[in-house]
Amino acid sequence: MQNERAGFFATDQWTGGVIGLGYVGLPLAVTMVQNGLKAIGYDQSQQRIDMLNRGVSPVEDISDKELAAALASGLEVTADPSRLNESDAIFICVPSPLGRHREPDLSFIQSAADVVADVVKPGMLVSLESTTYPGTTEDILVPAVSGKGLVVDEDVFVAFSPERVSPGAEMKTGDIPKVVGGVSAVSTDVAAAAYSRVVASVHPVSSARAAEMAKLLENTYRAVNIGLINEMAQLAHELDISIWEVVDAAGTKPFGFQAFYPGPGVGGHCIPLDPQFLAWRAKEANFSTRFIDLAEQVNTKMPVYAATRVADLLNHKGLPVFGTRILGVGIAYKPDVADDRESASIEVLRELEHRGAEIAVLDPIVGKSRIESHGFAAVDADAPLDDYAVAVLLTDHAALDLEKIADEVPTILDTRGAFRRAGIERDNVEAL
Ligand SMILES: NC(=O)c1ccc[n+]([C@@H]2O[C@H](COP(=O)([O-])OP(=O)(O)OC[C@H]3O[C@@H](n4cnc5c(N)ncnc54)[C@H](O)[C@@H]3O)[C@@H](O)[C@H]2O)c1
Repeated sequence: MQNERAGFFATDQWTGGVIGLGYVGLPLAVTMVQNGLKAIGYDQSQQRIDMLNRGVSPVEDISDKELAAALASGLEVTADPSRLNESDAIFICVPSPLGRHREPDLSFIQSAADVVADVVKPGMLVSLESTTYPGTTEDILVPAVSGKGLVVDEDVFVAFSPERVSPGAEMKTGDIPKVVGGVSAVSTDVAAAAYSRVVASVHPVSSARAAEMAKLLENTYRAVNIGLINEMAQLAHELDISIWEVVDAAGTKPFGFQAFYPGPGVGGHCIPLDPQFLAWRAKEANFSTRFIDLAEQVNTKMPVYAATRVADLLNHKGLPVFGTRILGVGIAYKPDVADDRESASIEVLRELEHRGAEIAVLDPIVGKSRIESHGFAAVDADAPLDDYAVAVLLTDHAALDLEKIADEVPTILDTRGAFRRAGIERDNVEAL
């Protein structure tokens, strides 16, 4: 059956089911349809389904136009999980956050697995895309698909394939090479055949666990290197050297060096979280993950460090933080996206607020109501800025008018090196 099933998934005669239509699942479902397949997208949020059916895309990477085209040519979205029974392969793209004690919260994956257990049928492929610790696919999905007496590798096929999409980036779901690891060689073959219909390049690995760990290595590598450069930035400041100049200089080496830049901390829902899945799994194995722990220590202290640098700038002008109006520039967790979940910008501003500052935020991408939901005043892009004693640039959106900020605010801390990159050199701008 195995080769026959891989052969079937190599055709465009199958329907893909997607569980969870967020940043990961919606682009995957749309990409399937763009590649000639049919797709059924299931999300437990009726509100999200209604929005999608009105042709309004909740994620930046899929335009309303792309969504409408997909809905007109083979994508159906529903809040009824039983509809997934009409699909030949199911891709699980639900959240996988950390719990209160930084332990993996697998409740979303478990509830998606319960849905799979209800709709699974002979010949089905089930692939988990949510980021998680090595072993999850075997621990949760294999029992879920086996409940009706179906046998893995004979009747059903199970794999893990990490999602690597980066919201706002040029490369989209279909362009990014995909690592695919089945719970066995047969499941790997079947899953690799299916993904080859959807994305440009597939890299099969020997197990789901290897695929799970590959994703965590990618993001741990980033977290550790960001931790390193954040420590270097603090040292460079002590030595009165510009870290930005140093990184640019080191970056001219044609081999053996990859540039990472400092910032106010790590944000978003991947880089701060993903290494913790590995650290948690390591603890179970009585193994200590020293690089992960050290990077986390350095990165989580960066917001307080950035706030202290703002306080130092004010101090040199004889001003306290208490009662001073401070402008936060950029609240999203990274440039050119409207997403401020887990943003380090918020932590910097909270720290300054905690020290008594009055905070206002200028962010041309994140909506006013979202900014106000954090308790900060929202500032229009064209409003006068000369009322703020200091600005701290936290997210370097391309849409920011840096000249205006440098002209109007007397003192600026640039935590992203944005003014330097834009060629704006002013005495009132200090880089982290
Ligand atoms: N967003 C990214 O940049 C990114 C990149 C790589 C990997 N990931 C990983 O992909 C996974 C999904 O992340 P996301 O950013 O797409 O999340 P998201 O919050 O944008 O979307 C998740 C969607 O799943 C739905 N959902 C939750 N539980 C459900 C259930 N049991 N049944 C049906 N629908 C359910 C929610 O209503 C929501 O619409 C996570 O594991 C994340 O770590 C995310």
